[in-house]
Amino acid sequence: ELPFSESYKIKMVEPIRKSTREERERWIKNAAYNLFNLKSNQVFIDLLTDSGTGAMSDRQWACMMLGDESYAGATSYYNMKQAIKNILGFDYFLPTHQGRAAENVLFSALISEGDIIPGNTHFDTTKGHIEFRKARAVDCSIDEAFDTTLQHPFKGNVDLNKLESIYLKYPAEQIPCVIVTVTCNSSGGQPVSMQNLRDVYELSKKYGVRVLFDSARFAENAYFIKTREKGYVHRTIKEIVAEMFTYADGMTMSSKKDAIVNMGGFIALREEELFKKAAQFNIIYEGYITYGGMSGRDMNALAQGLDEGTEFDYLETRIKQVAYLGQRLKEFGVPVQEPFGGHAIFVDARRFLPQIPVDQFVAQTLAVELYKEAGVRGVEIGTLLADRDPVTHENRYPKLELLRLAIPRRVYTNNHMDVIAVALKNVYDRRKKIKSGYRIVNEAPILRHFTVELAPY
Ligand code: F0G
Repeated sequence: ELPFSESYKIKMVEPIRKSTREERERWIKNAAYNLFNLKSNQVFIDLLTDSGTGAMSDRQWACMMLGDESYAGATSYYNMKQAIKNILGFDYFLPTHQGRAAENVLFSALISEGDIIPGNTHFDTTKGHIEFRKARAVDCSIDEAFDTTLQHPFKGNVDLNKLESIYLKYPAEQIPCVIVTVTCNSSGGQPVSMQNLRDVYELSKKYGVRVLFDSARFAENAYFIKTREKGYVHRTIKEIVAEMFTYADGMTMSSKKDAIVNMGGFIALREEELFKKAAQFNIIYEGYITYGGMSGRDMNALAQGLDEGTEFDYLETRIKQVAYLGQRLKEFGVPVQEPFGGHAIFVDARRFLPQIPVDQFVAQTLAVELYKEAGVRGVEIGTLLADRDPVTHENRYPKLELLRLAIPRRVYTNNHMDVIAVALKNVYDRRKKIKSGYRIVNEAPILRHFTVELAPY
């Protein structure tokens, strides 16, 4: 058998610059040890996020040239509408400028004070938009999701008993929707099985609750169903995607992930009534309903990206690259979350640096060390991100302190993965010499991780 290789070749390149350790130490100090403060040209390999950082194809760029910038009724809008109908099966849709804007518009039409929104672990912006409306997000993830060493094919699954207990406890009027995030970013890019999507839908129908998918990485989820779930190996990704969305009444989308565009999002729905209500908010917050904050050229590229993003060969290249990095790290003994997620490798910082007290920001300490080592920028998913308790103002210490290495789509080669793996191995080899972490010098009251200023402890 021939070795595996990428399902595309490279037509355009963007130079990236290596730096010296001395330069990086100066830069990260000037950035107050916050990797968000670095200039991108101070970074060699950027794994901050897989959101909006992908490489568009030649076909997507060709679609950009054909963009129709008419205010109303642009052909680009209809291209996007057609792609959403063909691939996802929804009749109604609203473009928005990105995923959290879709949440803002739809939740304005749907969620009121005191409501309960169950789901698997909600993404930060989703939870933010729920809590902003004085409603409550309830995490009904399966318990297996919180053990990084446990093997389970679908750690993104919703625990049906937990979900039903919410349905029994609160009246249906207080639960405007359940939100299933596919794949589940906050639990490590972990997929949800088709069986679980079906079960959630049936249970929710029984109790009269609407099912929404937070769909940012729906295609990666479909790849895991094809490769891990009995009965799907011979189905195409597009067939699997079509079935997945039969178990949803609506969806929000950050198109910056699986639709492989740099900016964009949308809401898709089956109910005309809810669509009409949401359309009003779209006009106020985003723009007229046939562009919603997007340029015509971007809607065209998005329509094309939905098609490419749901092709098996592309997804296999993508997911295998993430797994390649995970496997190399595992071979070096670096503690990583398993099974590997779809879009990122999560390094378990508490197991990596057990000597650092949690109040010295373990995952952030590791993120800074990796940057100093090789100019690789990951992101802390730990105590900084978790913010302080709004009442006690104490730090909230989450169960997991993770360093997320998110891989942009079609951007880096496996040589880059090797650099990342060896850099982290080098840090691992000298881990015992890392004696202390960081303390906060300055922080914002909410979402502090973006702007926080740190100093060595
Ligand atoms: N839902 C999920 C599951 C996400 O991962 C994100 C963004 C959003 C919604 C919000 O979408 O950024 O387009 O407004 N995740 C990015 C990340 C930021 O780095 O994981 P957005």
